[in-house]
Amino acid sequence: MKDAYRFPDLASIVRIVQITDPHLFASDDGRLLGVPTIQSFQAVLDAIQQEPFDYDFILATGDLVQDHNREGYHRFAQMVKPLKKPIFWLEGNHDLQTQMHNALALYAQIQPHKQILVGDKWQVLMLDSHIEGIPKGALSDAQLSWLAEKLAEYPERNVLIALHHNILPTNSAWLDQHSLANPYQLATVLEPFRHNIKGIIHGHIHQEVDSEWLGYRILATPSTCIQFKPNCDQFTLDPLPQGWRELELFPNGTIHSRVKRLMHNTFLPDFNGWGY
Ligand SMILES: [Fe+2]
Repeated sequence: MKDAYRFPDLASIVRIVQITDPHLFASDDGRLLGVPTIQSFQAVLDAIQQEPFDYDFILATGDLVQDHNREGYHRFAQMVKPLKKPIFWLEGNHDLQTQMHNALALYAQIQPHKQILVGDKWQVLMLDSHIEGIPKGALSDAQLSWLAEKLAEYPERNVLIALHHNILPTNSAWLDQHSLANPYQLATVLEPFRHNIKGIIHGHIHQEVDSEWLGYRILATPSTCIQFKPNCDQFTLDPLPQGWRELELFPNGTIHSRVKRLMHNTFLPDFNGWGY
C-alpha cells in the first residue's frame, strides 16, 4: 500500500499499543513449547482492554502465525475486533506475505498502509524485514528506498520506525544469528534524518529492550506467547509472563514507553523445549 494513512485530528499526545509475535495456530489448541498461543494472546488482549491507556491505534509487529496457515490471520483479525481501533501490521519471519496480506485485507479494521501520518508532528513507518523461509531478516533495496523516500517526504515530522527483526544483539548466540543482517545499510538511510528519528521498535526476540544503537533509541517488546531469556548462548525460555508495549509520542519528539505484562503466570512454557 503506497499511500499514507492519515489521522488528522488526534490529541497532541499520540498513544499506541504494540503487540508482537502471537504465533497463532489454525487450530484452537495449538501450542508453542507448551503455551496455548491463542489463549495467551486472548489474555493479553483482555488485559489491554482493562487498562486505562486510551490508545489511538495498534501496531502488530510480525510473527502473527506459527504454522504457516492462513487461518491464523483470520483468527488474529477476529480476536482483535473488540479492541475497536485501527491496526497496522508488518511481516515477521514466521509469516507468509501473500497469505497474510490477502487474509488481513478482508477486515476493515486492519489497515494495509505502511506510512502512518499522525496529526502534524509524527509519522510512523512500517518496514518489511522478513526473508521468505529463513529466520534472519534484511531490508531489501526496495524497502530502504521506500524508507528514504518517506523520510524525505516529511522532513519536519518526528519519526517512529517499526520492523520485526532486532538490530542490536541480545547477547544470545542462538538468537543473534537471526538478527537484521544489514543494519549498516539502514544506518546509511537514517543518517541524513538523524534528528527526526525518535525511536525504532521491533519484536522477534521475545524480550524487553530499551536501549540505544548509534544514538537511536531501540525498543523491543515481549511476545504474547513464549519469552526468550536474554544473555543465554543456548536456547533458553524465560518464565516472565506475556506482555505488550504502550507508547506515547509527544509533539516535541519525546517518546514515553513502558512494557506491560500479564499479572499472572498461567501460560508457562515447557522448559525442556530446545528450540522453536
Ligand atoms: Fe516470534
